[in-house]
Amino acid sequence: MDASNSGKRGNFGSRIGVVLASAGSAVGLGNIWRFPTEVGNNGGGAFILVYLGFVLFLALPVMVCEFLMGRSSRSNTVGAWKVLAPGSPMIVAGYMGILAGILILSFYSVVAGWTLDYTCLSLAHRLTGEQDYASVFQVFVSNPWKPVAFLVLFLLLTHWIVVRGVERGIERYSKLMMPLLLLIIVVLAGYAWTMPGAKAGLTFLFHPDFSKMTPGVVLSAMGQAMFSLSVGIGCLTTYSSYFRKETHLMSSAFSVCLIDTLVAVMSGLIIFPAVFSVQGVSADAGPGLVFITLPYVFNAAFSGLPILGYVFSSLFYLLLILAALTSSISMHEISTAFLTDNYGMQRRRAARIVTAVCMILGICCSLSFGPWREYTLLGMGVFDWFDYVTAKFCMPLGALIISVFVGWMMPQDEVKAQLTNWGTLPVRLYGVFRFLARWVAPLGVTIVFINELFS
Ligand code: PHE
Repeated sequence: MDASNSGKRGNFGSRIGVVLASAGSAVGLGNIWRFPTEVGNNGGGAFILVYLGFVLFLALPVMVCEFLMGRSSRSNTVGAWKVLAPGSPMIVAGYMGILAGILILSFYSVVAGWTLDYTCLSLAHRLTGEQDYASVFQVFVSNPWKPVAFLVLFLLLTHWIVVRGVERGIERYSKLMMPLLLLIIVVLAGYAWTMPGAKAGLTFLFHPDFSKMTPGVVLSAMGQAMFSLSVGIGCLTTYSSYFRKETHLMSSAFSVCLIDTLVAVMSGLIIFPAVFSVQGVSADAGPGLVFITLPYVFNAAFSGLPILGYVFSSLFYLLLILAALTSSISMHEISTAFLTDNYGMQRRRAARIVTAVCMILGICCSLSFGPWREYTLLGMGVFDWFDYVTAKFCMPLGALIISVFVGWMMPQDEVKAQLTNWGTLPVRLYGVFRFLARWVAPLGVTIVFINELFS
């Protein structure tokens, strides 16, 4: 199978570019917005423990599987199946990846749009002083126009980067934005330790209360692990098709998981001390949690020196947009690469189609917080449905198919060649990887599904 760097498809230019672009895909609103929301809704510490288990034993091996499928086939999520398993029905995992990528990008852009608005509010000094931030948020999201305008703007930004291509667009911007984001998160987490509710927040985060464990919570933890690491829908397969021959797949996957988990836990360390320091905000406040608590943190943290609060809050939201962008471009790239590789479409045209579809679906998601609030099915609106179907169904199912394929069906010579870079790297962890991909990942997903079904 062709693993050379020739051909007209793009390539990441450097090793650090590979890790930062993949970590850029992984680190995003999933860590800073979705993780605290899920932790809050699912009772805290016990959820985190289960989450970490899923990251290590499920998401990490599946990430390696996706990496080696992408680099081996040098194709997108559907193309990879065509090359590696011609004629196999497993290709449904590829098509499901395309669909899931579009659905995720649609609801993701809504939250990214909120972040854009909060950046503007912060820059305009409108997030300062004592205010009821819960109603500020509520009034904003239920407005029919404003969130839609910001979501469209966010998608246009994503489009603009994707059109520029792999090295000059995706890699360049990821390299720039990721380190900055990490820095600011560390500073804020450091501050959160000194807030009055720090102890209660830390207890909530790290003291597991297993009475809260239900099959639903376990499914949520699995979904969150997949979502946060961008696995199961071929996003990383697509990215790894741009990897070079020298890229160390296992260690890259390990670095990405480590960075992603650190950012998620640190976001918890920022948000929960704040939640427990502010009256009237509860941990299970849902999607608005970070938009309601963070303005309090910035105000409280820097009340002695408001200018610092201003700088930090503006910078934070700005960087959150950048983190969201490095993820949204990776979701966008799933379908854009599919259209260019499989239909010979020009990149520009393919990207336009993807952006347009996501805009339409994204607007539906956004309206489900405002004028369409009444339209629900089983108590969930469009936004919640998109989130539920992708994280709790498509991603785990995709991960199951991918791990079964790599563990049981892909020629093991090729798997080994990819993991050892054609025999030039030691194979120490090969056995562990193989065991996880063959048994642990597929059985883990199946058990969680069955358990949820019969609960
Ligand atoms: N992992 C990203 C985040 O945490 C979201 C994402 C999901 C990105 C699926 C790409 C594919 O925000």
